[in-house]
Amino acid sequence: MSTITLGTLRKMKRDGEKIAALTVYDASFAKLLEAAGVDLLLVGDSLGMVVQGQKTTLPVSVDEMVYHTQLAARGCAHALLMADMPFLSYTDSASALRNAARLMKEGGAHCVKLEVHGGMIDTVRALTDSGVPVCAHLGLLPQTVHKMGGYKVQGRDDASTGAMLKAAVAMAEAGADLLLLECVPSRLAAEITAAVEVPVIGIGAGAATDGQVLVLYDMLGITPGKRPRFSMDFLAGRGSIAEAVGAYVQAVKGRQFPSVAHRVD
Ligand code: KIV
Repeated sequence: MSTITLGTLRKMKRDGEKIAALTVYDASFAKLLEAAGVDLLLVGDSLGMVVQGQKTTLPVSVDEMVYHTQLAARGCAHALLMADMPFLSYTDSASALRNAARLMKEGGAHCVKLEVHGGMIDTVRALTDSGVPVCAHLGLLPQTVHKMGGYKVQGRDDASTGAMLKAAVAMAEAGADLLLLECVPSRLAAEITAAVEVPVIGIGAGAATDGQVLVLYDMLGITPGKRPRFSMDFLAGRGSIAEAVGAYVQAVKGRQFPSVAHRVD
């Protein structure tokens, strides 16, 4: 199995090979996921909700992210390992650099992810100029749930569509290595994917993005409560977790997932 780097993901975009990503929070799952062919492992701050049982991702601390990244890193030999920067850990360039350094140096992440808006170009540039690979997360930003008044599809009207496209291009120009689009109409996600050279990973953003990510517990059907419409239970009707993850990878690479049934438009 060859090692996946950011260069590998860029080549996959150029070659039209879809990128399969999943969240991960520990070593055993990291090992199982990469053995099943997952290219990109994300230690998401969704761990606050699916592992810790919190109502939102807001309480997750940098220490907790470092801890779970360390666990995942021990099981990750080939996949690219990305870690989320938690709420309020990147309010300025200095704190972003300090906390990204912890995730990479102590945690073993290869890349960090930040929930961004157009006003955060300087922070992204400070990170990328210092050699920190960055994934800019746009669209529905779970860390701003209280400001947004709930988990809602973003980029539905002309003004927000234009602003998101502009922000996405600006993030790529500031050196972001990846973009992640969450709960964005599929047409806007397709437009953003075509407008930037960096790989774009989608979740609830239609089929045109360069790759797909899901929250592991959602795709295994073990998330308490209602599963998001854009997700799918891949364990249903299958005999093992490894089989379910393999089916997810195949469905993403074979362009069967997401289908129109998973659209949020
Ligand atoms: O924390 C998380 O799980 C995420 C999702 C968008 C995959 O950021």
